[in-house]
Amino acid sequence: MGDTPQRPNTPKPNVTKPNVRGLYIKTYGCQANVYDSERMRDVLKPLGYAPVDSAEAADLVVLNTCHIREKATEKVFSELGRLKDIKQAGGGVMRIAVAGCVAQAEGEEIIRRQPAVDMVVGPQSYHRLPEMIARLARKTGDALEIDFAAEEKFDALPAREVSGASAFLAVQEGCDKFCTFCVVPYTRGAEYSRGVDAIIAEARDLARQGVKEIVLIGQNVNAWHGAAPAHDPKGGEWRLGDLIRHVAKLGGVERIRYMTSHPRDMSDDLIAAHRDVETLAPFLHLPVQAGSDRVLKAMNRQHTAEQYLSIVERVRQARPDIALASDFIVGFPGESDADFEDTLALVKAAQFAQAYAFKYSPRPGTPASGMHLQVAEAVKDERLSRLLAAITEQSQAFNEATVGRRLPVLFSREGKREGQALGYSPYMQPVHVDDGAHLNNRIAEVEIVGATGTSLSGRLVAAEVTA
Ligand code: SAH
Ligand code: SF4
Ligand code: F3S
Repeated sequence: MGDTPQRPNTPKPNVTKPNVRGLYIKTYGCQANVYDSERMRDVLKPLGYAPVDSAEAADLVVLNTCHIREKATEKVFSELGRLKDIKQAGGGVMRIAVAGCVAQAEGEEIIRRQPAVDMVVGPQSYHRLPEMIARLARKTGDALEIDFAAEEKFDALPAREVSGASAFLAVQEGCDKFCTFCVVPYTRGAEYSRGVDAIIAEARDLARQGVKEIVLIGQNVNAWHGAAPAHDPKGGEWRLGDLIRHVAKLGGVERIRYMTSHPRDMSDDLIAAHRDVETLAPFLHLPVQAGSDRVLKAMNRQHTAEQYLSIVERVRQARPDIALASDFIVGFPGESDADFEDTLALVKAAQFAQAYAFKYSPRPGTPASGMHLQVAEAVKDERLSRLLAAITEQSQAFNEATVGRRLPVLFSREGKREGQALGYSPYMQPVHVDDGAHLNNRIAEVEIVGATGTSLSGRLVAAEVTA
């Protein structure tokens, strides 16, 4: 047989894929860390990193850490011990990065205590991860990046790719409030608000990708402010209420939330947005921490219990069905039995739909950790359980009051049982529906048929509200 004629040697199109490398990010802490983990995935994608399900399968493991209470920080060091073993078992090629608030607060200590760690990167510096990885390959330069570079970070982040129906959008970073118990002002740096145009562009892009719920996030999200964009004839300065009104007008956005707020920044305009903006969820997470003015003062919260309750009253006037959530700390230094009773009285007066309660945990470098009259652990335990009982009673009552109502539920996950779907009501109550597997990433009308202290069960009413 004759030889097949040879084709001229045409250059192959450039289809060589970047080396696919496994990335495993473990996230602790608050919504800011959830957002940052997502953005770290975006930053690492062009380098060929794709998510895998376990540390064992990964070339790079990132621990995105939380420093808020002692337990959270301890977890990091025990997890690092486990990762060291996995790294060794794999011949030492796996890379370990520590990100987040422990990285920021204890970067040098981490490198000293756990030599298996290759990189330490703070919450405002993770856009530099590609450079750090390159330095690691060259075996030159610094393994620690903990600058406060929020502005530079946001400018450097690539476009997002999302798949779910709900997305966080960071609009504000850092905190200048300096509550005496809290590490956040030290780990996240000074308050910084992202510009209106960048936020709107990101929100538009999320809506284009099918996102139905946008959650505006920040450590003190209602401290957000920014210069009005050129198209606003009023000009001047925008506050969070203005931003919410604008995001509400973007096509496709059906639900807006924001978290977490500080009572001092609960402006009239934001309260009015709860009255005027239909897509703004009737949900407000407004941490109060304690009900005694003496303790609030020692915490440097800069408001009294009465001022908090008057904000709650004004919000309820604007939006009578609002679901109010809060955070509490029990056993702050010097908290007496009478102070704690004031906390219980505040709970009774405010009527919460949800609340988180924590035992005070002394944090290195914060003013409260050096205060006299630290409260005994047994006393904290007892106060915590009494407070939790009061909160649970209220959330149970709130949930029961929704039984019989029809609510639009945003389905975001599969439930525990086969075919079950899990979503959230406008009041942020988890809602389970049987035979709902097809509902994922949709908003559907649900009749609430049952309630516990923590969740609701429902029945699908009709066709989905939206596709
Ligand atoms: N930026 C938010 C949340 C900060 S951290 C705010 O200003 O409210 C989330 C919660 O953790 C806080 O509301 C507080 O209740 C709790 N927390 C913070 N520091 C703590 C500490 N040292 N011990 C116990 N709980 C703490
Ligand atoms: Fe921490 Fe207070 Fe700032 Fe909240 S407002 S992040 S509790 S310092
Ligand atoms: Fe934790 Fe940092 Fe958030 S300390 S709660 S991860 S801001």
